[in-house]
Amino acid sequence: MDVVSDVAEIRARLQGVPRPLGLVPTMGALHGGHLSLVDAATRHCATVAVSIFVNPLQFGPGEDFQRYPRSLDADLQELDAAGAHVVFTPDAASFTPPGRLTSVVVASLTQRLEGSSRPGHFDGVTTVVTKLFNVIRPDQAYFGEKDFQQLAVIRRMVADLDLPVTVVGCPIVRDPDGLALSSRNAYLSGEQRVAALQLSQALHRLSQEWAGDAATAVATLRRTLSQASGVRLDYAEVIDPETLEPFEGVVEGPAQAVVAAYVGDTRLIDNIRLEPAGSSPAA
Ligand code: PAJ
Repeated sequence: MDVVSDVAEIRARLQGVPRPLGLVPTMGALHGGHLSLVDAATRHCATVAVSIFVNPLQFGPGEDFQRYPRSLDADLQELDAAGAHVVFTPDAASFTPPGRLTSVVVASLTQRLEGSSRPGHFDGVTTVVTKLFNVIRPDQAYFGEKDFQQLAVIRRMVADLDLPVTVVGCPIVRDPDGLALSSRNAYLSGEQRVAALQLSQALHRLSQEWAGDAATAVATLRRTLSQASGVRLDYAEVIDPETLEPFEGVVEGPAQAVVAAYVGDTRLIDNIRLEPAGSSPAA
């Protein structure tokens, strides 16, 4: 497995590699969620590239850019064992230089939910993901449903700009007790981790009780999480999985429940699919 930081060098390394070429963009501090994307990429693609870049453009002022967990040596060992072929580790000074004048911006989809709590966040994500697509030129790119809105925004960007890449969405990987894996879980104390479990538990209960009434579901979810000890709710909504617009009345088709909350200083997000009332959950 080769580890390359330079743009010209990675382009040369990927010249003529067996296709399809898969890309898994990450910010490192890898866990089972990231590795599930690498696993999917190795199953579908002849060559697998992974990027590790803690992208300064997607962190707002006062967010955790400085203290975001970094564990490059351990990450590289995991990626080698997982069968990745090339790892791209650009450095911020040259990949996102201060003199940069160009951004990629997806409108409206990025304004709600994460976008309203983290202004500018998605502009940072779409700008860097476009650069990664442009440098690596993957046939397939793998993203987790954990970041449900991010996946929708990237799908939309790829469609709107006719980018020659297929976006593959992969299911959320959870710890056995239900907590969605996240690099930010490393910030949680034992007690906070127990508090954080209330997010996945509330979502799971909602999906079991879901009868298609969005107003009731949202009210229950908000009440549960507002009363959850150690949890400070940011948002809880039931949304259309395609448009991300909130549902308010009776829902006939699929829906997605999405939540964001602080546990201590740590901001966590989670989501779950709500299957149409009366249908059995997807396998
Ligand atoms: P990062 O948070 O490192 O996540 C990299 C990828 O792993 C994302 O597609 C994310 O959705 C996926 N992922 C994280 N936790 C997961 C889990 N529990 N189950 C399944 N997939 C999971 O998302 C980013 O980095 C950045 O925004 C990035 C796309 C790399 C752009 O900088």
